[in-house]
Amino acid sequence: MSRENPFFTRREFIASAAAGAAIATLPSFGAPQSKGAKSSYFVSVLGDTHYDTEPENVYHSKYDYNNRWAKVVKDEFYRNGVMWREFCPSLMAASAKIAEKKRPDFILQVGDLIQGDCGDPVVHKKMLDDCIKKFIAYYKRPYPFLTVIGNHDFRGKGARKAYFEYMNPYNDKEIEKITGVKPEKARYPVFSFRHNGDLWVFCDFETKAIDKISEIIEGADDARHVFLVTHGPFVLCPSASPYAWRLAGRYVSEESRKRLYIALSRRHAIVLSGHIHTTTYYRIENEYGGFTEASVSSVYSSKRRETAEPIFNKVEDYKLKGKMGQSEVALFKSGMKEFYHSIGSGHYRLYVTDGGVALEFYPGASEKPAKTFIMKKLKKA
Ligand SMILES: [Fe+2]
Repeated sequence: MSRENPFFTRREFIASAAAGAAIATLPSFGAPQSKGAKSSYFVSVLGDTHYDTEPENVYHSKYDYNNRWAKVVKDEFYRNGVMWREFCPSLMAASAKIAEKKRPDFILQVGDLIQGDCGDPVVHKKMLDDCIKKFIAYYKRPYPFLTVIGNHDFRGKGARKAYFEYMNPYNDKEIEKITGVKPEKARYPVFSFRHNGDLWVFCDFETKAIDKISEIIEGADDARHVFLVTHGPFVLCPSASPYAWRLAGRYVSEESRKRLYIALSRRHAIVLSGHIHTTTYYRIENEYGGFTEASVSSVYSSKRRETAEPIFNKVEDYKLKGKMGQSEVALFKSGMKEFYHSIGSGHYRLYVTDGGVALEFYPGASEKPAKTFIMKKLKKA
């Protein structure tokens, strides 16, 4: 399938990198639309949120502290307590304020919505319910709220079953609000829906069913844009040595990952992920076309996170520690044209048009975008 080069030239990209510039200049030109669809829309985006509260025993009184991870987990409870007392309420308020200006079609959270670790399925469901009610209350209008499953969302005794019992009917309801159509049941490991001519695919990032994701994308030639939402990144993340911290990292063969690499590239797809608690962006071009990925984070646990200053912003700096995954790193790196990696966290806004897709990054509780990532840009026909 031949596709136009979806990106700015290097010069255009640099010229547009000032906050908001790319959004303002994205032109709109004639991709086919389904009847009644809008040609452009916004999505408010939140990264990992690890919702929790103080004191620790509100959600964790039944947590079993007799395990080797207890110290790490207890530190996370503490971090979350500070975060949801001091920082994240203002982040949510800022996201809501931005939403009021441009009215998103929905709010998207990229997984690890809650901390989990409740040790009891009833408490786990309550944590999910409290969290969603609290989050949507920040927004002045009843925007649909969608979240993809993250590892914390089902962490703890009986939590996976509890998550699906709560979230499956919830997702059906929210997707119907977005699309206006009663969906086929949205069930993990992979589900998808169409919105304004775009394909949105959501997956459990620990799935073995990665070929199913490729199949859905390969079968959607008529979609305007293709979005893949996965908690664990597809592109191997450049911090530490978390080889398993990737889409289907623990389970599948390199061939299945390569198939998805090709499927995404042929459609110039946009991957939205989280999990690594950084703001990270990749733009890849290759013989099949190319794709972009943005990993986003709302783990706003200190002022230190309130930055858009990159730790890395050169492709040469993209590397992974450890021996695992080096052949994939070489594959990603061979086509990588842009790489940005910051410890910054905040909130984000996606702007989708016929002409392309951009993602604004608002560090911390900022109401001004500090960075705009071009996720896709079509050349004029
Ligand atoms: Fe995670």
